[in-house]
Amino acid sequence: LSSVEVDYGKVQLGQQIVVKWRGKPVFIRHRTPKEIAEAVADDDAPLRDPATDASRHKPGKAEWLILIGVCTHLGCIPTFGTGDYGGWFCPCHGSHYDTAGRIRKGPAPKNLYLLDYAFLNETRVRLG
Ligand code: FES
Repeated sequence: LSSVEVDYGKVQLGQQIVVKWRGKPVFIRHRTPKEIAEAVADDDAPLRDPATDASRHKPGKAEWLILIGVCTHLGCIPTFGTGDYGGWFCPCHGSHYDTAGRIRKGPAPKNLYLLDYAFLNETRVRLG
């Protein structure tokens, strides 16, 4: 299956874009310092699917979070900014994800999934 190149250079701080990759939505989020700090601060919190914030992004690129935008419960598409943990919320059955995409509350069993990607330069990223 093929890779996709995406122009992420215009994604403003605190914004995200959703792109299609292998038939799935992918969130490319430009995180604010506050979002990053909140995620790092919760590295030691009780987590259903334990993962550090650092394990969720490329080294030195904490401001860019790139995730499969599919709820790990039954596959709805979560929306950003309406959950209890500052990240994504899935309206289908009420799963709350934090600003690292980690599941914090609700029925979803896993964090939002990661995918393989590589930054090609300051504006282009290759997914897959
Ligand atoms: Fe997201 Fe059920 S599909 S909570």
